[in-house]
Amino acid sequence: MPSEQVWSKLQELLDDGLKSIGSAADENALVALQKRFFGKKGEVQAYMQHMKELTPDERPKLGALVNQVRDKLEARFVEAQKHLEEAKMLADLKHRRVDLSLPGRLPMRGAEHPLQKTQREIEDIFLSMGFEIARGPQSEWDYFNFEALNFPEDHPARDMQDTLMLENGSLLRTHTSPVQVRTMLCYEPPIRIIAPGTVYRRDDDVTHSPVFHQIEGLHIEKGLNLTHLRGILQLFAQSLFGKNTKIRLRPSFFPFTEPSVEVDIACIFCGQKGCRLCKQTGWIEILGAGMVDPNVLREGHIDPEVWSGWAFGVGIERVAMLLHGISDIRLFFESDLRFLGQFRR
Ligand code: DAH
Repeated sequence: MPSEQVWSKLQELLDDGLKSIGSAADENALVALQKRFFGKKGEVQAYMQHMKELTPDERPKLGALVNQVRDKLEARFVEAQKHLEEAKMLADLKHRRVDLSLPGRLPMRGAEHPLQKTQREIEDIFLSMGFEIARGPQSEWDYFNFEALNFPEDHPARDMQDTLMLENGSLLRTHTSPVQVRTMLCYEPPIRIIAPGTVYRRDDDVTHSPVFHQIEGLHIEKGLNLTHLRGILQLFAQSLFGKNTKIRLRPSFFPFTEPSVEVDIACIFCGQKGCRLCKQTGWIEILGAGMVDPNVLREGHIDPEVWSGWAFGVGIERVAMLLHGISDIRLFFESDLRFLGQFRR
């Protein structure tokens, strides 16, 4: 082929290529055109075959021209690709209407369970006063749950009606007080512990659950008396219910303390004017406490002539119900997210 013809064919190829690439209808058509023009066996490369038909001084010109044609076609190719993508996006947007007034989708967020939260708050108060956390088993021996705590053989709390017995002769602990004696047997005094944990009783109504939680407190040191107990519990009540919270001690009875008291806080709902929640008395009972009975210290191998101690036991559900104004204990155990979600921090 004479050189003039080669040049004009090349020009034709360029014109044709620019036109077909520019008017490619879709992605597939573009891919086909890419193969047709740019592949190793593509039409552009094919022009190099004419090299041998040219004179030596024309040859470099062919190389340069073929490169130019390829560059121009490639540029058009990139342009066409961009065009197609834009058109596709626009068409897409037309079909998919976006409603900007819809509420966003929030990720699910967990919340600390109100009992866990209350337990942690009580723990923090006592940890800050130098108490440590102790634990004991939930299946307990009669000895630790009753006998070592000075319960007489025929005490009503031992009644099967309250206590859930296990087949191996042990029982589900009815309070966290057994951790007192277990701790005394493991550690030398002075002792300052709190013992949070699950306890069980055959009891079931709006304020009682067969499974509930307590925190036991035990302080053993030389020369302790009821005023130490009162001071710490005052601080405890104020940290939990507000710094103006008043407490009072009422005489009571527990087998493992002598003297025993019940501790009330001034009603946080009515400011002591008298309401349904404080039964018009202005006071709400929050826990039991007392000076550790010498018999209990002896069971823990601690000499009551040298050491004295005070103890208390508080119900976590009861405190949480007071703190958050909850009237039905069963809400804690129903796993209803509408209830639990309210305790998100
Ligand atoms: N264990 C008692 C109960 O479950 C609560 C209690 C009262 C614990 C007085 C004590 C205490 O440590 O001193 O009802």
